[in-house]
Amino acid sequence: MKSKSVALKKHPIQNPKGKLGILLPGLGAVASTFIAGVLSARKGLGKPIGSLTQMGTIRLGKRTDHRVPKINEFVPLAQLDDLVFGGWDIFPDDIYTAAAKAGVLERTHLDPIRGELGKIKPMPAVFDPAYVSRISGPNVKKGKSKMDLAQQLIADISKFKKSNNCSRLVMVWCGSTEKYQTASAVHQSLAAFEKGLRENSPNIAPSQIYAYAALQSGVPYANGAPNLSVDIPAMLQLSKEREIPICGKDFKTGQTFIKTVLAPAFKARLLGLHGWFSANILGNRDGEVLDDPEAFRTKEESKLSVLEYILQPDVYPDLYGNYDHRVRISYYPPRGDNKEGWDNIDIFGWLGYPMQIKVNFLCRDSILAAPLVLDLALFLDLAQRSRMHGIQEWLSFYFKSPMAAPGLYPEHDLFIQLMKLKNTLRYLKGEELITHLGIEYYD
Ligand SMILES: NC(=O)c1ccc[n+]([C@@H]2O[C@H](COP(=O)([O-])OP(=O)(O)OC[C@H]3O[C@@H](n4cnc5c(N)ncnc54)[C@H](O)[C@@H]3O)[C@@H](O)[C@H]2O)c1
Repeated sequence: MKSKSVALKKHPIQNPKGKLGILLPGLGAVASTFIAGVLSARKGLGKPIGSLTQMGTIRLGKRTDHRVPKINEFVPLAQLDDLVFGGWDIFPDDIYTAAAKAGVLERTHLDPIRGELGKIKPMPAVFDPAYVSRISGPNVKKGKSKMDLAQQLIADISKFKKSNNCSRLVMVWCGSTEKYQTASAVHQSLAAFEKGLRENSPNIAPSQIYAYAALQSGVPYANGAPNLSVDIPAMLQLSKEREIPICGKDFKTGQTFIKTVLAPAFKARLLGLHGWFSANILGNRDGEVLDDPEAFRTKEESKLSVLEYILQPDVYPDLYGNYDHRVRISYYPPRGDNKEGWDNIDIFGWLGYPMQIKVNFLCRDSILAAPLVLDLALFLDLAQRSRMHGIQEWLSFYFKSPMAAPGLYPEHDLFIQLMKLKNTLRYLKGEELITHLGIEYYD
């Protein structure tokens, strides 16, 4: 039973002493559902279902060892009782009001924690209607330049940390999806980016100003939307220089979550694909923002990219060389946060005979996203305490468009992503990695 042992991590993991502040730009449906859920779980009023850090386990050693601790007993994570919450929004509503307006959680869940939720009030946001055009609100900062706005955010972060007595902070972007953007000259280096901040470059989006402020403050940053945000060379450089972990983009919650389970299954069985048509109806504020073609384009790119990477048409031209992939999102207010996703999948098998699969997922967007926010916050804090920095590819599990090192294609298969995540935890603790080879059981 020989197996190669892994090198121990060079740096021991610092213990999570004191309070962890979770800062959220965008206190809408996802953020309020996340905060209310953590407060409820902490009071024993509900369970944090869907959260790997709270409910997941990890196998260690051989199958015959029967060592399967809970993840939060295996790696030192911040406890729910040690979390404090803050954030920014263009609407001044406290979290109780924001959650009530979002209409995700019922009063029976919100009322027992009303006092705590009511105390969390958004700080004025950095907002630019050129990037999010469908909504406007009064709680917005004014500044002489984008650098001035970044400095105001840095001051907010420092004040929050002090007044809440936090030992560490993380930031998770839960704000709206911004208009489509590709990296331009101003994003290519930190010097160019800072010059752009001072000169008010129109190519610097609000989400990038938050990301810059977070990294300059030593705060890890996760990007829950498909915005470029930290996925630009300037931020990569800053995250390396300041030794801060970053990850993104776009929470993988509903339709894309299912897509990254089904597509690897077709590929595993070498079933071909003629087409995949995905439609969605949703009626929350996110749906309203995505009704703008520019914002939809950002989301569309994120949703479309997964199949290409999973199916590898260049490697399997007979199976995936010519499929049609379309994604539609329609804003339909009566549905609120209860999104409905339809998928029509045209596959083909032996001798090319066609078959169809229909998926109808009646989901709840923020209920699926909230546990991801929790896991990302706790794992980013773990990464920081383990002295990991730059892109955290092991957190790809949570994203539709996982960030990867320049020149490296992202891994989209949900189960490979999960294996990567768990192996990273084993690696951090100096445990043997699990390859699933299993030949040793038959020696
Ligand atoms: N719920 C999901 O399943 C899911 C999945 C993937 C991605 N996302 C993304 O997560 C984000 C949040 O989703 P949601 O349903 O909570 O949307 P939401 O519209 O309810 O909340 C977003 C909030 O961000 C605020 N905002 C916009 N720009 C801001 C800025 N510059 N600074 C501060 N606040 C700002 C808005 O006022 C709004 O309250 C969206 O970008 C969405 O696309 C959600």
